[in-house]
Amino acid sequence: MIKDILEIAGIAGDIIREGFGNNFQIEYKTSEKNLVTEIDKKSENTIVDFINKKFPTHNILTEESGEHKKDSDYIWVIDPLDGTTNFAHGLPIFAVSIGVMKKNEIVAGVVYDVMRNIFYSSEKGSGSFANDTKIRVSNNDKIGLGVLATGFPYNVEDNPYNAFERFESLTKRARAVRRLGSASIDFCYVANGVFDGFWEVSLFPWDICAGKLIVEEAGGIVTDFSGNETNVFTKQIIASNKKIHQQMVDGLKI
Ligand code: IPD
Ligand code: CA
Ligand code: CA
Repeated sequence: MIKDILEIAGIAGDIIREGFGNNFQIEYKTSEKNLVTEIDKKSENTIVDFINKKFPTHNILTEESGEHKKDSDYIWVIDPLDGTTNFAHGLPIFAVSIGVMKKNEIVAGVVYDVMRNIFYSSEKGSGSFANDTKIRVSNNDKIGLGVLATGFPYNVEDNPYNAFERFESLTKRARAVRRLGSASIDFCYVANGVFDGFWEVSLFPWDICAGKLIVEEAGGIVTDFSGNETNVFTKQIIASNKKIHQQMVDGLKI
């Protein structure tokens, strides 16, 4: 199945790359901050058509069109363009994120970093890769020597999860905190050891699914803010190299 996921992530990525920097329609979702472009929709429709042809019984959950319910143990969880604000403003940091779950367990995932042409991929039990190279989380065990990443939800001004207080707390503890604007790429930078950890409030299954497996298979860990096990429906997420995980949990207790 990983071959198929890689194939369709690449096709969707080509659509996004072609659209980047051109004129495209933009609509507002919940607010002027929360955009969807015609390229998000084109990417998503292409991925959904591909799955419907190749795996007609599989369930699908996507950001832009929600649940496509069928009768199968498999569900594909899709963010057709993760980093829409970056894309719409000409910042070349965005990805296609596709995870596949079987009976609630993530079994495969691909995050395609479109402009760097890097396919991050993982199959349960087989490690994680950036193109053909095996990747591994960092070895650092001190948050003060680490670089972390975070992001903010679109409703940040009235989000109840204290995003700014948590940002302040971890910014004081870490060497640096970065905010890339693409959660799936944040996960992959934890998996390849560039970031020591990533956290965010109010993520969605399509932001998490592929990235969670890629971090775990690279030797990392993904939990909620209390350090407990998560699934893709957990909204408050910490992903780390394991070694600084407890320090992140402590820093996020505000
Ligand atoms: C967003 C990005 C961003 C994160 C937001 C997400 P979208 O996804 O991943 O980094 O901070 O929480 O909603 O809307 O560009 O697919
Ligand atoms: Ca997203
Ligand atoms: Ca998206």
